[in-house]
Amino acid sequence: MNRLTRIGVAAALTAASALALSQAPPGPGGPPNPEAQAKTAIETRQAVFKLIANQNGAAGAMQRNQREFDAAVVGRNAVRIQTLAGMIPELFTADTRAVKTFKTAALDGIWTSQADFAAKADGLAKAAAGVVEAAKTGDKAATMKAQAEIGKACGACHDNFRAKP
Ligand code: HEC
Repeated sequence: MNRLTRIGVAAALTAASALALSQAPPGPGGPPNPEAQAKTAIETRQAVFKLIANQNGAAGAMQRNQREFDAAVVGRNAVRIQTLAGMIPELFTADTRAVKTFKTAALDGIWTSQADFAAKADGLAKAAAGVVEAAKTGDKAATMKAQAEIGKACGACHDNFRAKP
């Protein structure tokens, strides 16, 4: 894991635990501040998706033949994606539907169909685990075939739970 990525993962994990602890912090000397909580929740989950996309980028470039195939890089990044995917349901425990102040692409279904949303996150974790195993063989075709399942898992969730841009 290079240094920047390690910092990125550490920051995401720290932010996620801060979020877990911040379910009902009082406002400055006053009652809980739902707006501030929603802002933190939205920023944190978006940061994790940015990190997931960042970690998926190298394999994507290899799929497009823009980068030389490297099984070790694909496998290493898939381990990280698997970990980040496991965090997704937790990152949506704060229901931000009522707060309209901040831009978010999260659709209401995340909170009305929580089991399905969690299953989609699990789908990504499983696809990433498949890539970890395939990359161990060092075989390009097998690894890229498994990698395609990651792409499908992203799309399966976005199709149902993320607003179209
Ligand atoms: C379980 C559902 C789910 C899965 C799986 C998932 N996403 Fe997302 N993704 C979302 C949701 C929901 C948002 C919108 C978050 C928001 O705006 O609050 C999002 C937002 C994003 C964003 C925009 C982040 C930003 O800057 O605001 C990117 C990039 C992204 N996803 C990439 C990916 C990639 C790449 C994968 C697969 C490797 C993936 N996602 C898998 C649900 C998912």
